[in-house]
Amino acid sequence: MKKTIVVLPGDGIGPETTAAAVEVLRAVAARHGHEFVFRPCLFGGCAIDAAGEALPPETLAACRAADAVLLGAVGGPKWDRLPADKRPERGALLPLRKELGLFCNLRPAVLHEALRDASPLRRELTEGGIDLVVVRELTGGIYFGERGTAETEAWDVMRYSVPEVERIARKAFALARTRRGKVTNVDKHNVLASSRLWRATVERVGNGEFPDVALDHLYVDNAAQQLVRNPRRFDVILTGNLFGDILSDEAATIAGSLGMLPSASLREDSFGLYEPIHGSAPDIAGKGIANPLAAILSAAMMLRHSFGLANEAAEIERAVGVALDAGVRTPDIAPPGGKSVGTEEMASAVLHAL
Ligand code: NAD
Ligand code: IPM
Ligand code: MN
Repeated sequence: MKKTIVVLPGDGIGPETTAAAVEVLRAVAARHGHEFVFRPCLFGGCAIDAAGEALPPETLAACRAADAVLLGAVGGPKWDRLPADKRPERGALLPLRKELGLFCNLRPAVLHEALRDASPLRRELTEGGIDLVVVRELTGGIYFGERGTAETEAWDVMRYSVPEVERIARKAFALARTRRGKVTNVDKHNVLASSRLWRATVERVGNGEFPDVALDHLYVDNAAQQLVRNPRRFDVILTGNLFGDILSDEAATIAGSLGMLPSASLREDSFGLYEPIHGSAPDIAGKGIANPLAAILSAAMMLRHSFGLANEAAEIERAVGVALDAGVRTPDIAPPGGKSVGTEEMASAVLHAL
């Protein structure tokens, strides 16, 4: 099959990890006779430097015309002092998600058996592994509500509508049906009006349309502590934009590292944007030691969710498993004082296993 993939390497470690994912996609294409056309575009801080804006119109147009987008990461100290709406996060990433209508963000946290010791959790807590998905609402909530700044105050409004909650809830319930059949809704229903509407809507969708899926509710503070106390209680976590951002970094860390967690940002058709959940990691950028597995696993999600290539996706995931079983480790997942490799060697190990 022939597909066009826009590649947005972005800033910091983005170009390093994205290059590894592209290599893996090329290898899969060659093996299976697919044609993937890669279109690199400027996006983020590097686009500010080269073109004067974080999301150039040509980049947005290329994304709209593509079958899928592979994104690295954006942002860094160089652009931190820009006005908030010009900096890469607010000037590129959020508008891209919004413009493309990518309301459904899947963030699977899987602790591979070989990485049990990379998890900060005691071994007994991860017996049998961790396998959960954060389903994060991505185009609403406090990220996109009204904002204001006055002389001595500033505000951000958290607002959700019934249709926005219904569509993300349906995605979470449908996903749970393909897994262990359990949705945990996470909100702040004891305080926030938006969470009261959110929970009532989730209940109605669940009871009405997915009576076969178990549903429970947690306040976000309790969810944060249960993630480290009893991660195996979770199957699908359904939550809003801000809580999903925070809980997914926590989920990544208990599953070994931020450098392990991929994501898919989806809408109702097959188009999707795929990116690791981590950022541009300015502290290690340019050193060649970033973990490329989150980017590589994001490429696998692209094959599964946008291209319907489930077997090829599983091949990549298996290859990642083989590399980990063989003991190949970037520094973020290596034991203290243990041997580690760089980004390219990790990518080579995955390619070799493929
Ligand atoms: P970060 O995710 O970039 O880094 C947090 C920590 O995790 C750092 O110590 C980093 O070295 C480590 N880390 C992250 N990814 C890693 C990888 N693949 N391999 C090994 N270690 C890894 O978060 P931050 O430092 O808070 O943010 C840095 C910049 O990235 C900020 O400008 C932020 O806004 C931006 N950011 C962008 C995205 C995105 O583009 N999707 C996501 C998160 C943060
Ligand atoms: C993420 C990031 C972004 C978010 C930032 C960079 C805007 O943290 O994708 O998790 O908060 O969504
Ligand atoms: Mn985040």
